[in-house]
Parts: sequence; C-alpha cells; structure tokens
Amino acid sequence: MARHFILCIGYLLASMVYVLAQNECSKIPPELEKASKDCCQPPKLKEGNAQNKCAKIDNIFCLLECVFNETQIIQNGQVNTANLKARFDVELQPDPEYIPIAMNAVQTCYTFVTQKMKNKDEKVGGCSVLPSLVSECTDTQIFVNCPANKWKSNQLCDSAKAYLKKCPVLNFPMNN
Ligand SMILES: *[C@@H]1O[C@H](CO)[C@@H](O)[C@H](O)[C@H]1NC(C)=O
Repeated sequence: MARHFILCIGYLLASMVYVLAQNECSKIPPELEKASKDCCQPPKLKEGNAQNKCAKIDNIFCLLECVFNETQIIQNGQVNTANLKARFDVELQPDPEYIPIAMNAVQTCYTFVTQKMKNKDEKVGGCSVLPSLVSECTDTQIFVNCPANKWKSNQLCDSAKAYLKKCPVLNFPMNN
C-alpha cells in the first residue's frame, strides 16, 4: 500500500481539478514543475506481496479504492490506525523513520480530503475519488515532512515544499 501512496503521484490530474476548483492552489508556480520528486529521497519499500488482487486494475481510482478496501485502513468514516500501522510496519520496515511520518500524513489527508469534499464523494469510472485524493495528499505530506537527512535543500526543492505545505492536494509533476 505504501507503494501506492508513494508511486501514484502523477496520474491524478482529473481528481485534482475537482478539489482544487477556484482556490489559490490552482495556480501552480513554475518552480514546482521544475522541482524533482527526489528533493525528498523516497522511502525504501519492502519488496514482495505483489500478488495482491488489486494489481491488475487499470483505472487508478478503482485501483486505489481496491487497495483501501483490501487494507481496511478506513473504517466507519475514519482512519483505522491499527490497520494502517500494521501495514506500514511491514512495508516501510527498510526505512522505519518514515513510519510515523506516513501515519500522520494519512490521518491529516483523510481529514483534509473529506472536509474539502464536504462528505459528498465523487465517482470516476464507477469508483470513488477519495482514496486517490488521500493517496496523492499523503505523498505530498511525506514530501513536506521529509526527514532532514533525506532532504536535498536547494531553491527549487524548498519552494516546492513551501507551496505543497499550503496546498496539500495537487498533482505533483514527475520530471525524472
Ligand atoms: C470497495 O468496497 C465497496 C463497499 O463494500 C464496494 O462497493 C466497492 O465495489 C469496492 N471497490 C473495489 C474497487 O473493489
């Protein structure tokens, strides 16, 4: 699941437009397009478990909905922290300093996205956009809260971080 949080960025423009409609965040600063995702060295993920039944789904919204269903990280309208931690403990085991960062990111993002959507979910291709938005946001939150020793500080990276701090749900471009 961490894999989906970390790697899905870049596929979600359609859903972003939905949440970002008319606000300050919809003006993407040009520096952001040039900043690279490896400003924050991504966590190493444990390999394996790739045989899960979600892997074959093409539609990104359905793929992430499937992952959320399978992992049961959202239950009764809130994040199930025990299920979430169980997942991250395994998947982020090669890079455990990311575990608390990723935990906080998911919780913050779930709250943020449900508030933005005012609890009315939207479907694309028959699937909820919520899991995709939470994943996208989680990715930017991990970036924003990157451990200092994994952060490459320079003007582009720092301004990308400042923008994403303000605008946590956004299609962050991948230039590498
Ligand atoms: C996820 O679970 C919901 C509720 O049980 C179900 O309606 C939906 O089809 C499931 N989504 C996927 C992609 O399996």
